[in-house]
Amino acid sequence: MDPVRFDFGNLMAPRVEGGPDAATFASTLAERFGAADAAVDARRAAGDFGFLDLPYATETVDRVLELADGFAQWFEDVVVLGIGGSGLGATALKEALLGPFWNVLSDEERDHFPRLHVIDNPDPFTFRSLLGRIDPARTMFNVVSKSGATAETMAQYLVAREWVESAVGADKARGHFLFTTDPAQGALRQIGEAEDIPMLPVPENVGGRFSVLSAVGLLPAAVCGVDPRALLAGAAAMEERCRTEVLAENPAGVLATLLHQADREQGRPIHVLMPYADRLRSVALWFQQLWAESLGKAVTLGGEARPTGPTPVAALGATDQHSLLQLLMEGPHDKVVLFIDVEDAEADVSIPKRHPGIPSLAYLGGHSLGELLAVERAATAEALRRAGRPNATLTMPRVGAEELGQLLMLFQIATVYGGALYDVDPLDQPGVELGKRLTYGLMGREGVEPPEMAETDPRWIV
Ligand code: PA5
Repeated sequence: MDPVRFDFGNLMAPRVEGGPDAATFASTLAERFGAADAAVDARRAAGDFGFLDLPYATETVDRVLELADGFAQWFEDVVVLGIGGSGLGATALKEALLGPFWNVLSDEERDHFPRLHVIDNPDPFTFRSLLGRIDPARTMFNVVSKSGATAETMAQYLVAREWVESAVGADKARGHFLFTTDPAQGALRQIGEAEDIPMLPVPENVGGRFSVLSAVGLLPAAVCGVDPRALLAGAAAMEERCRTEVLAENPAGVLATLLHQADREQGRPIHVLMPYADRLRSVALWFQQLWAESLGKAVTLGGEARPTGPTPVAALGATDQHSLLQLLMEGPHDKVVLFIDVEDAEADVSIPKRHPGIPSLAYLGGHSLGELLAVERAATAEALRRAGRPNATLTMPRVGAEELGQLLMLFQIATVYGGALYDVDPLDQPGVELGKRLTYGLMGREGVEPPEMAETDPRWIV
């Protein structure tokens, strides 16, 4: 397996003012990382970090493959209903490994695997439009919710259940649903058990945003023909690489330690992830949630009130060279840019030689679109370096399942190192809960008092 590589030279002094030099990296930062690594090891030993064990969960993979095989034969459309960590991972896998046009390919081009739709937001326009385009008799819904309580997902499930039942009858409708949820509790588990609906577990010690390599992400990918074993093999390889406490050898450790240093010691809390590949755009959105929800916390592990956390920004190269780059180059010195480069663009497109008399077009002929994208990334990194703006590059040999498995595991491990470095719990999300409770109250959930909303004082311009 070709490894994902990490070039962090442009995060270091003297290229970056305030960045660590080689001696600081080898002493202060290595020591700081050693402490973070020990803290992560202790929580792993306590069973907190279930995502690290997912690459080795062979029983789940067997069950995923068995169910996926059956669903792929019966259904033309698979709809994943899930939000946050229960939806972003499936979208990232879908776009990276099936490509941007999967759902408009013909049956033959898809090798008769189903189309895949991941619906997170309960926007009625989207939901109604989707239901108007698919056949209830040939559609399967994978309802994904660890808690089995999230209002957005549960509301979509209720609509979908009624819609399928009214088309195929209550009895048959059960066969159109698969629940991916907590192994022991929650409304989905209760319904699944009572009505004999197939279910896949999200392990108790795997939270939403760390669940992409559990059945949450693997089932939707496998149902469309992606080999989950390849994803997990890549993840296992990265998990093994990151077992070392030696900072210089641990890619997730280097990423977390340098981003944390940039935030806390250089005043650069904004971390931009900018893949140069359309297929990885949703990986950047997945990372955005992982980094934000895991590290943005009001209190430290020791209970001290201290609002903490970097601000991740998902971007796309070269597209955002024409929107964000001006700010990244000349705006405040508060950002770090992390590029993802893909060496083998696959299916590259040559640029024909035309208009030899027009210099502004003629130089492009004879090159390729993949080459242009790669050159733009290198040029942007160099421009940022010359402006003293810290940046780093993760290089994927190609966008394949093994390489993606490595990348996703790298980011997840970096996130729990980030938790230790920032001294916060990367697994909880208390800030999300209040909004959820207020929603339950406003929607009339039994046992939840309708909240008193503050008087609003709107100031309209009409
Ligand atoms: O990362 C998380 O824990 C959250 O983003 C959850 O995934 C999200 O709130 C959805 O929760 P659930 O899976 O319980 O429906």
